[in-house]
Amino acid sequence: MWGMIATWRMALEGVTKGCEMLGRGQSAGDAVEAAIREVEDFPYYKSVGYGGLPNEEMEVELDAAYMDGDTLSIGAVAAIRDYANPVSIAKRLSQEQVNNVLVGEGAEKFAHKEGFERKNMLTDRAKAFYRKRKKEVAEQELKPYSGHDTVGMVCLDQKGTMTAATSTSGLFMKKKGRVGDSPIAGSGFYADSKVGGASATGLGEDLMKGCISYEIVRLMKEGLHPQEACERAVNLLDQELKERRGKAGDLSLIAMNKAGQWGVATNIEGFSFAVAVEGQEPKVYLVRRGEDGHCSFEEASKEWMDDYMRTRMAPVEE
Ligand code: GLY
Repeated sequence: MWGMIATWRMALEGVTKGCEMLGRGQSAGDAVEAAIREVEDFPYYKSVGYGGLPNEEMEVELDAAYMDGDTLSIGAVAAIRDYANPVSIAKRLSQEQVNNVLVGEGAEKFAHKEGFERKNMLTDRAKAFYRKRKKEVAEQELKPYSGHDTVGMVCLDQKGTMTAATSTSGLFMKKKGRVGDSPIAGSGFYADSKVGGASATGLGEDLMKGCISYEIVRLMKEGLHPQEACERAVNLLDQELKERRGKAGDLSLIAMNKAGQWGVATNIEGFSFAVAVEGQEPKVYLVRRGEDGHCSFEEASKEWMDDYMRTRMAPVEE
């Protein structure tokens, strides 16, 4: 059995590519890297890689991570600028004994030394979004926009190896140096080939409060199906945050276990994800959260898929 699950519709082309690799017997490490790179390279996704939205100083600072569920090796970069594929740098870092998580200048220096492709990640389109946002809030203090479309993936290959990886430009208008959950092991991602893996998207500051990806893997280890594990962890964190802080940020999670069973949960409307397992084509599903916290999903219609691309690629009206 092999499979791959990922946050958001934007992951579909990557998941499709990754699944072709898995079907040919390639490793979960290579497949998840290739899949995330596909998302990083697409200029119209404004929260990951090239075309990602900048921080309040109009710099694109990217976070990414990679985890190998066989060895529990992790690698991550945070607030890295001017490199095309942060996930590949994270994967390379996972091979080191120490210095697995590098930030800012240190991460850039490592990437340069290792010969990773440099690229100005700030597109004209992202600049237009920045100017538009600045204008909108000209009278107020700039606040990070709560858009949070991190790409997070969990992958299982034919040999039973599981991996997880993430990539994001983080919150639009974030402070320079701000790091979200995506490069933080246990929060944005976790993979253990003996159990399964999970990955998050949403408000990093709140996802971190529950170490939620690890929590889901822990629940799967106790025997819960990925769907139950996701729902239990998301609902509990949502409830705790509301009780203790009066509100909860966006929390959306995907997970897969070592048998290729998968699950998702969210506390928002409008969460989508892409998934494929051996024998089933990659598809996008839309999640609906019921009053009781139970999440159901249905396949995205052709109209929804067309509209999604149209909206992503529409000119930015400043
Ligand atoms: N979940 C992405 C972030 O908060 O940066």
